[in-house]
Amino acid sequence: MLPIANNSLSSMTLPIDINGVKGFLDEQEGAALYHHAVAAAKMGPILEVGSYCGKSSVYLGTACKLQQNILFAVDHHRGSEEHQVGEEYHDPDLFDARFSKMDSFPQFRETLARANLEDVVVPIVASSALAARHWSTPLALVFIDGGHSMEAALTDYRSWAGHVMRGGLLVIHDVFPNPADGGRPPHEIWKLAQQSGLFEALPLVKSLGILRRL
Ligand SMILES: C[S@@+](CC[C@H](N)C(=O)[O-])C[C@H]1O[C@@H](n2cnc3c(N)ncnc32)[C@H](O)[C@@H]1O
Repeated sequence: MLPIANNSLSSMTLPIDINGVKGFLDEQEGAALYHHAVAAAKMGPILEVGSYCGKSSVYLGTACKLQQNILFAVDHHRGSEEHQVGEEYHDPDLFDARFSKMDSFPQFRETLARANLEDVVVPIVASSALAARHWSTPLALVFIDGGHSMEAALTDYRSWAGHVMRGGLLVIHDVFPNPADGGRPPHEIWKLAQQSGLFEALPLVKSLGILRRL
């Protein structure tokens, strides 16, 4: 077990070196996610949209394991717009030439195995909308880090926000109040959640928007 130091939050212990997992979550954001998940997982299961190679899943899954709860990890593993061939964040190691498609699922499985989280994380290899179609389980924390187009972000918000239980958290990655820092859709759904009257915003942790269900 590897302890990770963090100045603003109490210490956290992760089962693997998180820097060895491909992904997009900053260490301070990951630590905040972990600490909120530890508290939330006492109330119920956690769900994330957008697992990629499992970086956020290790933070969330480790918190769930501590509380003997589980993490639903939703991702079609075909990559977002920016991961496709020719785009800024394309990674050739994650390209399956047999199908001419991105596939992050093998790496995701490897991360879960290395982190000893296979009995904690339930991978759901499907689009967010499909996974949500018959969903009815109340969730203590929903982490949205899927597609960043307006359509994808709105679909994620509409699919999952209503399943957050009272006192639970909706956490959105890549919320940038200043448009110069990044794309708008995650910020737009963060605002929508507040305008709904159902959520109150806690202070941002870098680009992590944290909203508590009233
Ligand atoms: C930014 S990455 C997630 C990063 C990850 N949370 C981490 O900590 O590294 C976004 C992921 O969302 C997935 N994704 C994009 N649109 C999706 C959708 N509509 N349904 C399910 N997954 C989606 C992509 O396949 C990709 O793996």
